Amino acid sequence: MPRTLWIESDGQLATWDQTRLPFESAVIPLGDEAACARAITTMQVRGAPLIGAVGAYGLALALRVRADDEALAAALERLGGTRPTAVNLRWALERVRDRVRPLPPDQRASAAWDEAARICDDDVACNERIGRHGRALLEALAKRAGPINILTHCNAGRLATVDHGTALAPVYALHAAGVAVHVWVDETRPRNQGASLTAWELAERGVPHTVIADNAGGLLMRQGRVDVVLVGCDRVAMNGDVANKVGTYLKALAAWDNHVPFYVACPVSTIDPWARSGDAIPIEERDPGELTHVGGRAPDGTIVAVQVVPDGSPALNPAFDITPARLVSALITEQGTCDASVPGLRRLIGSERAR
Ligand code: MRU
Repeated sequence: MPRTLWIESDGQLATWDQTRLPFESAVIPLGDEAACARAITTMQVRGAPLIGAVGAYGLALALRVRADDEALAAALERLGGTRPTAVNLRWALERVRDRVRPLPPDQRASAAWDEAARICDDDVACNERIGRHGRALLEALAKRAGPINILTHCNAGRLATVDHGTALAPVYALHAAGVAVHVWVDETRPRNQGASLTAWELAERGVPHTVIADNAGGLLMRQGRVDVVLVGCDRVAMNGDVANKVGTYLKALAAWDNHVPFYVACPVSTIDPWARSGDAIPIEERDPGELTHVGGRAPDGTIVAVQVVPDGSPALNPAFDITPARLVSALITEQGTCDASVPGLRRLIGSERAR
């Protein structure tokens, strides 16, 4: 399976246009900083780790044009402002910045490019480890008869990362090990990343799955048809509160009420040491048009957006929500599982810094 972000034979950075999936596999070139920024804001690329990787390459491309301190600061500002919630973007930009700042301007672009490539390789390795830790945790749920039923929200699979995914990495690891799994895929209104992206990549790997309406999860949990909820996330605050795609909080509440474990998979880079609680996490508000219109494939094969709201009805479109730490059973990271608590996160950040 190719990575989600790759270098073509002519040296050009390229990715899939995720706004065209699952109907078209369109490759888009990311030839300059503006193309990277546009891909992030329009969600041609999305998912916290992938946004970080594209941002890092965007910075390298900006430095090819101008690489003095003033230009570096301006590019960081522009790219950092493309999407506010996922902290991985800031983390990746700062990692590249810290690598190039001590260098003379004429060496910065190529050092930044190499650092962006390392960020991608690290992401792949990190997600593999998340897969192994998550698999060990979830294997305990394997039953003598029938699959482990996993409910997920949005897309935290390979399309949200450079490869493997975060929340889907344990699913792929279990499936590869021959453990029977079945995934309940929340459609994830308004942009339907579950229905369009998660279902697509699970099908690509032959993982049994069923798409459900966002509001069906509570009923399925009550009926005993969900063994575990497993989601990715965009930022973890130091008290264990978690920001993820809007609707995650309601799944966590339903999981709590039905004694279903609720796990959050993420790399340690998703933990924000500067956010004391979820209240400090900025929630992106997107164009209400994403809510008033639904995109899909028309019978003639064209991709269209159709209006589902009466003319003139106002709409509000927060893209993420906060799940309080008390509803999170554990975080699954590349360092292992961890309590969503101040001591648990301090330990994790400490061991990461010590590496
Ligand atoms: O708005 P999106 O599609 O970028 O939101 C993505 C999510 O909410 C994912 O769950 C999150 O980024 C984790 S990705 C491994």
